[in-house]
Amino acid sequence: MELTSNQTHPAFPTLLSGAVHQESEQTRSQAYTTGRKTVGTPFVDKPRMTCRDVEVYYGEKCAINKISIDVGCNEVLAMIGPSGCGKSTFLRCLNRMNDTVPSCRVVGSICLDETDIYHPSVDVVPLRAQVGMVFQKPNPFPKSIYDNVAYGPRIHGLTKNKVELDEIVETSLIKAGLWEEVKDRLLEPGTGLSGGQQQRLCIARAIAVSPEVILMDEPCSALDPIATARVEELIAELRTQFSIVIVTHAMQQAARVSQRTAYFHLGDLIEVGATDKIFTNPKHRLTEDYITGRFG
Ligand SMILES: Nc1ncnc2c1ncn2[C@@H]1O[C@H](COP(=O)(O)OP(=O)(O)O)[C@@H](O)[C@H]1O
Ligand SMILES: [Mg+2]
Repeated sequence: MELTSNQTHPAFPTLLSGAVHQESEQTRSQAYTTGRKTVGTPFVDKPRMTCRDVEVYYGEKCAINKISIDVGCNEVLAMIGPSGCGKSTFLRCLNRMNDTVPSCRVVGSICLDETDIYHPSVDVVPLRAQVGMVFQKPNPFPKSIYDNVAYGPRIHGLTKNKVELDEIVETSLIKAGLWEEVKDRLLEPGTGLSGGQQQRLCIARAIAVSPEVILMDEPCSALDPIATARVEELIAELRTQFSIVIVTHAMQQAARVSQRTAYFHLGDLIEVGATDKIFTNPKHRLTEDYITGRFG
């Protein structure tokens, strides 16, 4: 099941009707941050997601300070920066995962296509299918390989019968580069796979509900170099169908997999630009200090 940007997601056909966010061309072109002003090119033509003036608080503490950035279609956007600078916090805003943290408050606007995802009419369950997440540590459910992938399509009612479900499971595992390794053992537990295979299973599980965006928070940090290389190859392939936002502490990984890179520093978005430019010719001194190893 392929979706283009103009089609409605099957899990929520009237996704957020009434929650359409209006934005003029003029507001799009402005850089918004009032803390440290973001340098570079945070905005793109025809964005998939638009984030404007996003602030995140844990209680009184501000963890993200007025960040504005777009996520483009069919791009891998890498988010880098020193530990504690807010990368995970910001990533979790993109599918409202921060809703699960009681002290956390998100201000500003985040839209997926035309829809404000923080609008009260938005149901987070289908939202998290559209904006899927892959975590640092592979976390397959204690179920069979088949049932891990079939889980989302089942709870969202995406298939009419077993034949359709089998097809989604197979195509998702193929796209995740895992089918050949598991096709003869689909009923064995997902937790019995190697770490790298488990992470690709989690990616297959995210893909199975036809997301538009996949968020990845340091997806390779628990993997060995060979499994990491396999997941990086997969990310490159997935870009043809999805937008991917990846947090990574490995700068070489950002350089290998992403088209754009965003550098965060103490809750500010310091610089965004084409990955090759960020790594060879950063505009901001803080970005340069970080990528040359003087900070972080
Ligand atoms: N659940 C939480 N409750 C309170 N503070 C948090 C929570 N999660 C993160 N923080 C704080 O928010 C800031 C950003 O953290 P985080 O987003 O995890 O950074 P990064 O992913 O860049 O390492 C840090 O100061 C961290 O201590
Ligand atoms: Mg983090």
